[in-house]
Amino acid sequence: MTAEPTRITVTGPTPYDVVVGSGLLGEVGAALQGAARVAVVHPPALAHLAAQIDVPGRLLLETPDGEASKDLSVAAQLWDALGAAGFTRTDAVVAVGGGATTDLAGFVAATWLRGVRVVHVPTTLLGMVDAAVGGKTAVNTTAGKNLVGAFHPPAAVICDLDVLATMPPDDYVAGLAESIKVGFTHDPRILELVEDDPAGARTPKGPHTRELVERAIAVKAAVVSDDLTEQGGRELLNYGHTLGHAIEKAERYRWRHGDAVSVGLCFAAELSRTAGSLDDATAARHRDVLTSVGLPTTYDGAWPDLRATMSVDKKSRGNRLRFVVLDRLGSARLLEAPDEQVLVAAYETVRA
Ligand SMILES: NC(=O)c1ccc[n+]([C@@H]2O[C@H](COP(=O)([O-])OP(=O)(O)OC[C@H]3O[C@@H](n4cnc5c(N)ncnc54)[C@H](O)[C@@H]3O)[C@@H](O)[C@H]2O)c1
Repeated sequence: MTAEPTRITVTGPTPYDVVVGSGLLGEVGAALQGAARVAVVHPPALAHLAAQIDVPGRLLLETPDGEASKDLSVAAQLWDALGAAGFTRTDAVVAVGGGATTDLAGFVAATWLRGVRVVHVPTTLLGMVDAAVGGKTAVNTTAGKNLVGAFHPPAAVICDLDVLATMPPDDYVAGLAESIKVGFTHDPRILELVEDDPAGARTPKGPHTRELVERAIAVKAAVVSDDLTEQGGRELLNYGHTLGHAIEKAERYRWRHGDAVSVGLCFAAELSRTAGSLDDATAARHRDVLTSVGLPTTYDGAWPDLRATMSVDKKSRGNRLRFVVLDRLGSARLLEAPDEQVLVAAYETVRA
């Protein structure tokens, strides 16, 4: 691993850097010039990392763990804490944790005084390559997951690869699904790195970890630079997600997001082959590369339930189902309202 950090710039209305490297927790302060008070939001398991964030007027704010923190009652407690500490427009929030923490802390930063700065310090692979980059924030409500939120780009994203060492292995592997996804849609070199050493790809100590993380971030950064609010190319990052979201819902969110996306990618590959022009070998490559790192590629749920959920997916427009498909490796596009028989046949290929 080279000692120098890599900086990937996200452009657009409010540009910021995603910094990737080793031993980077000290970089957070530099991104928050002028803040007199900084709230560091973290789940209990990451208190030791939050304590290493050396910033002026630090206020450590612990939240419940994981998805339980993405709740309006938790956001309200954080707003109260900011109010009690006298947070002003020039003060800031730092999120130390996985995607749940960056989503919650980002939402609190987006709404406090109608928007204060937030710096994300993602501590999971999914957080680094996906959740912390791109400015989407959200909490869950009784109506559903991630339905309440705001676009609020961070002031910086600090990806210290050292912190991945303590991740539960299955969570780490689930995060790989998003990297493999952008390998198919945008950067096939990612697939080659995984195929070169699948066992290495499964661990943060693998020889290609840094390049895998940087390449996946570079794709996301380029896409959101052009399309922050998902009016164009950003929608293509939903490759594999239409069925993936339906599986997550059917499993009441007890399946990991990356595991559900992995099955969704195999489904989308088959749809790309039958309803589009994807060649057989590239379609088969989905199952091979995902299996090689231990991600699931089959699911045994009932099609009618999944199909009903897909019609109300928040990415749908009106009643028309929209899928992302590949025409060829590295070239994705939208497919609207495909034939129902084609969908059923594609699902048969991933049914356990
Ligand atoms: N905003 C976006 O664009 C976006 C994109 C993708 C996902 N998300 C959101 O991200 C969330 C999922 O994120 P996640 O998979 O990172 O899960 P998570 O944030 O729930 O973290 C998973 C678990 O790992 C623990 N953990 C985190 N880092 C650790 C570390 N370094 N060592 C040991 N334990 C650690 C956490 O405490 C938690 O228990 C979902 O809520 C999803 O909606 C958002």
